Amino acid sequence: MDNIDMQEWGTFKDCLKAPIYRWFTYPAGFSFKAAMHSFDQEKLVKGSTVYDPFMGSGTTNLAAKTMGINSYGVEAHPFVFPITKCKLNWNINIDKVYTELHNIKIKVRQTINISDEKKKAIVEQSFPELVLKCFLPNTLFELLIIRDYIRDIVDEDVKLFLNTGLICCLREVSIAATGWPYIAPNKIKITSLSKDGLGSYINFITKMLDDVHYFNFLYGDLTSEHHIFLGDSRDTTNIIPAETADHIFTSPPYLNNFDYADRTRLEMYFIGDANCWADICNNVRTKLITSATTQINRKDEKWQFSKDFITDNPEEYIFLKDAVENLGELRLTKGGKKSYDFLVLGYFNDLYKILKDNYRILKPNTTAKYILGDSAPYGVHIPTDELIAKIGCNIGFDSYRIDVLRTRGDKWKENPQRHNVKLRESIVTLFKKN
Ligand SMILES: C[S@@+](CC[C@H](N)C(=O)[O-])C[C@H]1O[C@@H](n2cnc3c(N)ncnc32)[C@H](O)[C@@H]1O
Repeated sequence: MDNIDMQEWGTFKDCLKAPIYRWFTYPAGFSFKAAMHSFDQEKLVKGSTVYDPFMGSGTTNLAAKTMGINSYGVEAHPFVFPITKCKLNWNINIDKVYTELHNIKIKVRQTINISDEKKKAIVEQSFPELVLKCFLPNTLFELLIIRDYIRDIVDEDVKLFLNTGLICCLREVSIAATGWPYIAPNKIKITSLSKDGLGSYINFITKMLDDVHYFNFLYGDLTSEHHIFLGDSRDTTNIIPAETADHIFTSPPYLNNFDYADRTRLEMYFIGDANCWADICNNVRTKLITSATTQINRKDEKWQFSKDFITDNPEEYIFLKDAVENLGELRLTKGGKKSYDFLVLGYFNDLYKILKDNYRILKPNTTAKYILGDSAPYGVHIPTDELIAKIGCNIGFDSYRIDVLRTRGDKWKENPQRHNVKLRESIVTLFKKN
């Protein structure tokens, strides 16, 4: 691989500084520079097509759009998907946005004479406890007025734009220490105490409009098409034809027990997409590939390696079967009794399906690249990158290469509770010939 600083490619840091990419801080996101570098390396040109089966906040697709490259993307998280849709639409009617913003200001100002007690009572009726803990009552009241106004907007594009802005500025005005990805409602963030909901929202929307204007100025002449789907990338036969893509650039959920559903809990509760843990489970967790123990119900009979997986991957199956048995025994000796055994099993069953579907979608003589990390649940090392590479070759890819981006996990090395397996983040490249 070229001599470029790739340490941060698996992180969202670059995106946090870049127009449009930065709107929604998605801790699972990767660097747009990594995507662009890959497009160059694969010699993609205007009119080529890339696919991201784990689209997330749309970094691959947005990078493609800035280079005149077409894209496909699939994302299963129902909350994240519309944010990406908004980031890819630069044809927003700015006059209409300003008109609605003006109406929102009037709407909020009309409530100026409502007493603080009444505002508090209204928000308490409207939101679950987590949301109440994260905002001052008056700020939350303003945000509620804005949310409800947006719900009635008829122009779908303007509605999506204004709603995306509202979601994206929530953590900025929250008084809770909403670090990424978790929320600490009992820790107060002093800098947010003086922020007002309406002012912060208007600033955010103005920044979004500036970003769209800037990207239109830089890249508006490039034409490209972007087909994005809210769906499941384990099987896309009904939505993406075979041999569509010149390249796949993606990052699957890592095998590290990160709960994507939990990450968006505050926002989903605020918007009204979910009211409790069960809603998050039904509306999000069940839709995603297995990557967190919170998705696992041990009574479910599905936790077996699939017959196809065993047939296609005899060596990897033997390795994983041992690891799963080991983890099944280890969990009984641990306080948390985490279901890492089924997590590993479910993860590889799912990734196997994804790789097969990805192979189908690629044109001959192309590559698929996966940014991913290995893991060591309860100290049992699972070399995810090598396993994915080998499973890829078992299902038809011609060969693979693994480039290590960085080693991870050193910060825990003094902690006796933690394992001391050195972990790494890599790019796995799979080559498809015919
Ligand atoms: C590591 S993140 C990718 C982030 C993305 N590269 C970005 O920059 O925002 C993995 C994504 O896969 C999504 N995902 C999980 N299971 C999926 C499935 N079955 N089909 C499609 N997407 C899925 C998750 O919701 C998450 O957004």
